[in-house]
Amino acid sequence: MLTQEKVLEILNPIQDPFLHRTLEETGGVEEVKIKEEKNHVSVKILIGKTNTAEQMELQQTIVNALKSGGAATVGLRFDQLSDDVVQKFQPAQESEDASLLSGNTKTKFISIASGKGGVGKSTVTVNLAVALTRLGKKVGIIDADIYGFSVPDMMGVEERPVVRGEKIIPVERFGVKVVSMGFFVEDNSPIIWRGPMLGKMLTSFFKEVEWGDLDYLLLDLPPGTGDVALDVHSMLPSSKEIIVTTPHPTAAFVAARAGQMAIKTEHEILGVVENMAYFESKETGNKEFIFGRGGGVKLADTLQTAVLGHVPLQQPYEEEEVFAPSVYQADHPIGVIYRNMAAKVIDKY
Ligand SMILES: Nc1ncnc2c1ncn2[C@@H]1O[C@H](COP(=O)(O)OP(=O)(O)O)[C@@H](O)[C@H]1O
Ligand SMILES: [Mg+2]
Repeated sequence: MLTQEKVLEILNPIQDPFLHRTLEETGGVEEVKIKEEKNHVSVKILIGKTNTAEQMELQQTIVNALKSGGAATVGLRFDQLSDDVVQKFQPAQESEDASLLSGNTKTKFISIASGKGGVGKSTVTVNLAVALTRLGKKVGIIDADIYGFSVPDMMGVEERPVVRGEKIIPVERFGVKVVSMGFFVEDNSPIIWRGPMLGKMLTSFFKEVEWGDLDYLLLDLPPGTGDVALDVHSMLPSSKEIIVTTPHPTAAFVAARAGQMAIKTEHEILGVVENMAYFESKETGNKEFIFGRGGGVKLADTLQTAVLGHVPLQQPYEEEEVFAPSVYQADHPIGVIYRNMAAKVIDKY
């Protein structure tokens, strides 16, 4: 037989689906009545928002919990918490998220750009994000390379984001929150974007995603200096940029255009990452500059900035338990290089 206390014990830890607080914290259990002869429990629950899919789910949770606790039948009514209480517990993100694009957020945007594809822009984005997280920062990634999205695959993300209320909850991997176009595409099929849709999609990545309070939000930009890249650049009010290049002088020349575009849209350049800088033989320790040499420094000079790091060619260690094809481990030589880069970024921004 359930007692009043036992019922409270069962209900109190359950979360209000909108306020993300326990019913105990919100004072959501308004009434508990027990009809002993029939072993019937009826409760009245106050929540942040009524008549929603979440309420249905909560209803199931509560009924099941009370029945497993010993109730034969359960009566359940919902009502809305008073506005005061809702205000008090309303997740602060609401207003914060809306202002992610307005410029008064404390989240710092870092856009990762390149002159062309295939130079490691996404690899740099992912590993810099993970390295910043390892240094204790709260980090998110928007995979804004809307045609060439690859971040989920690189990080080995298999789940899809869930939608709660009107918000998309980003997927978390290695402590980094990720949102990608790839999450919203079936079977890797190609997408055709028309101008206004693209803007809407990107805006919703900022506004409709529950990012929580982030220190850094990294954007994997589309490569090159085309319309899409330009749109993304202009949409962000205050982003700093990292330009990725290979060491080949021609690559650096092309990357300089991406840098110029950043400057035109008033985005300060944080630095240059020279990726695929060299190959180091495990046997001899000899460095071979397979893709040429000097591109990173040349680009940094052109853009009057610094080289944040030279990343050699090497794969992450293979691990059986953790699948993340492009994430370098903290103790991997390249993991260490990313750690140093992350420290420089924190220092500068
Ligand atoms: N330092 C590196 N060593 C070895 N492979 C790398 C390195 N950087 C990138 N790659 C690989 O090169 C390919 C292109 O990198 P990617 O990050 O997808 O480039 P982008 O985003 O610029 O198109 C990927 O297959 C990636 O795994
Ligand atoms: Mg990419």
